[in-house]
Amino acid sequence: DLLQHIKRFEETFTVDTAKLKEIVKHFVKELEKGLTVEGGNIPMNVTWVLGFPDGEEQGTFLALDMGGTNLRVCEITLTEKKGAFDITQSKYKMPEELRTGTAEELWEYIADCLQQFIEFHHENEDLAKLPLGFTFSYPATQDYIDHGVLQRWTKGFDIDGVEGQDVVPPLEAILKKRGLPIKIAALINDTTGTLIASSYTDPEMKIGCIFGTGVNAAYMENVGSVPKIAHMNLPPDMPVAINCEYGAFDNERVVLPLSKFDEIIDRDSPRPGQQAFEKMTAGLYLGEIFRLALKDLLESHPGTIFNGQNTEKLNKPYLLDASFLAAIEEDPYENLSETADTFHSQLGIRPTQPELEMIRRLAELIGTRAARLSSCGVAAICTKKNIESCHVGADGSVFTKYPHFKARGAQALREILDWAPNEKDKVSIMAAEDGSGVGAALIAALTLKRVKAGN
Ligand code: BG6
Ligand code: GLC
Repeated sequence: DLLQHIKRFEETFTVDTAKLKEIVKHFVKELEKGLTVEGGNIPMNVTWVLGFPDGEEQGTFLALDMGGTNLRVCEITLTEKKGAFDITQSKYKMPEELRTGTAEELWEYIADCLQQFIEFHHENEDLAKLPLGFTFSYPATQDYIDHGVLQRWTKGFDIDGVEGQDVVPPLEAILKKRGLPIKIAALINDTTGTLIASSYTDPEMKIGCIFGTGVNAAYMENVGSVPKIAHMNLPPDMPVAINCEYGAFDNERVVLPLSKFDEIIDRDSPRPGQQAFEKMTAGLYLGEIFRLALKDLLESHPGTIFNGQNTEKLNKPYLLDASFLAAIEEDPYENLSETADTFHSQLGIRPTQPELEMIRRLAELIGTRAARLSSCGVAAICTKKNIESCHVGADGSVFTKYPHFKARGAQALREILDWAPNEKDKVSIMAAEDGSGVGAALIAALTLKRVKAGN
């Protein structure tokens, strides 16, 4: 009966404290390995953001923010008042087809949005004087801050001809062709932007995290602790931001508690074998895990749920997104009437009361697993860096919108880092919304300051 199925789901998706600790231990090793010459699963990309802003940065900048779901264009003015800024922005949805379209379509779309923004806000202005910070939230190898070679697409993107290429020249070329002589001053990751923007307003911020369509974090390392750049003979105590790209944690599958649903997601994704950690925790996959779990139950025990109803809609991959799960978890009614309505409107299914309860429990289990595993990345950075207490700036749709995500993540951190029951949270993950836009402007400002200073 249904209780038995619930129990099976609980066994599949529960991650206890001991397992979390085991994951963090392995995570620390992988972070360290990524900084060495041999590398490993986690890229630990050197960003060439050398230190935090000092609050004296000034000027007006454009920021282009290509995340997983939206594209944002911002204009940011860093004002004279230390740590203060003005921001104007427009948000555009990234059309679904772009993810698997052509490179030209992608760059043209981005250029369209930028052009629209500029025509609206900046007619007749000297664009050459408005440097652009480009937040490109995919793993990139950077030898300089104003270029970046895409290592591989993540978050379901699969566009030919971009991997292995520097993404700055094609975008600049298209802009030029349209008469927009905009110079890309810095290419950054959303996590690096979040780190830099958060620390601009709160010096206790030591880590920038994204819990959204993808998952990842950035933090500051000393050059001396990054053996893979030792040959450059930079001052060992010089700080440099590292974009971990830890969505790729445990691609070797040593420690993550993978379920058969995680295996299916990986197998059917455009990049099997990649982003193992991300595929268990990020917003892009939560609804799909839920769909696969229900489908499995329907197939392995025909007739036990949704008896006699047409469940065909459940066969469509990625039909349900994280907001579907969020809505179930947020249903305030004892009889789960909102969940019943959502199921009926989106799937054409009318669950019984016990089925609704099972559905709610399944959503809770998947959401809780994601939050608990997500905390492992933060705990691993703190452990690796010997950080006892700090603030962590976080952004992304899962962090800002998914119910209970913050509390569940905080609880997992308590368990992993062994805080006493009456102790206050020593590592607090806090919202840093819109961080990457401001971060991109700040990093562009820092870069120009360095160029001017001749280093
Ligand atoms: C946005 C940031 O708020 O969050 C982006 O501006 C970031 O830079 C994004 O990529 C992550 O969230 P999601 O949910 O859109 O992947
Ligand atoms: C994916 C990307 C990474 C990004 C993260 C959050 O993991 O590879 O660059 O930071 O998603 O958007």
